[in-house]
Amino acid sequence: MLISGTGSNMQALVRASQQQHWQQRFGARIAGVLSNKAQAGGLAWAQAQGLPTALVEHSAYPNRAAFEAELTQAIARFDPHGRPDLVLLAGFMRILGPDFVQHHAGRLLNIHPSLLPAFPGLHTHQRALEMGCRFVGATVHHVTAEVDCGQILEQAVLPVLPGDTPESLAARVLTQEHLIYPRAVERWLAAQP
Ligand code: GRF
Repeated sequence: MLISGTGSNMQALVRASQQQHWQQRFGARIAGVLSNKAQAGGLAWAQAQGLPTALVEHSAYPNRAAFEAELTQAIARFDPHGRPDLVLLAGFMRILGPDFVQHHAGRLLNIHPSLLPAFPGLHTHQRALEMGCRFVGATVHHVTAEVDCGQILEQAVLPVLPGDTPESLAARVLTQEHLIYPRAVERWLAAQP
């Protein structure tokens, strides 16, 4: 799992993976948590849980290709066979290039705080309010070379309430993110042969 910040989605996924029915049905576990930021709160949380962690700071590499090559190697090191079944982006705030995306195609998922295909990119809640949207939401999707454009796996929809701000929307949407990301992963796992 790849994170850059608080890691609340990561925590939701870790908790889901610890549920008995996940264990019994899929034998799934979180192989490791990787952050591109040393200060990411989620990294400390994962360490405290005893999960394998890695730090790959983008700022330490001369270019994106070198950073992503190390990312790929660090992800492989999490798995005894060198290839985790899924690579989950959970608040990972770096755009990934086509080579990385191609390498992990079909098993690279992301969560985005908007009802895609509306509002790819940043500042989604502010943009939704400015557009006068009556509904907002979150989307779990496959990652492709085009940012926030891959096939959709799961969505949550919420009404915009009078007086909502980008912050109040972000907080309400985030609680839904914590439900739909585990659900999307569970569906992905259930669909595997
Ligand atoms: C979430 O809103 C996610 O959709 C977005 O960044 C935020 C990360 O939050 N990409 P957290 O680190 O999972 O708490």
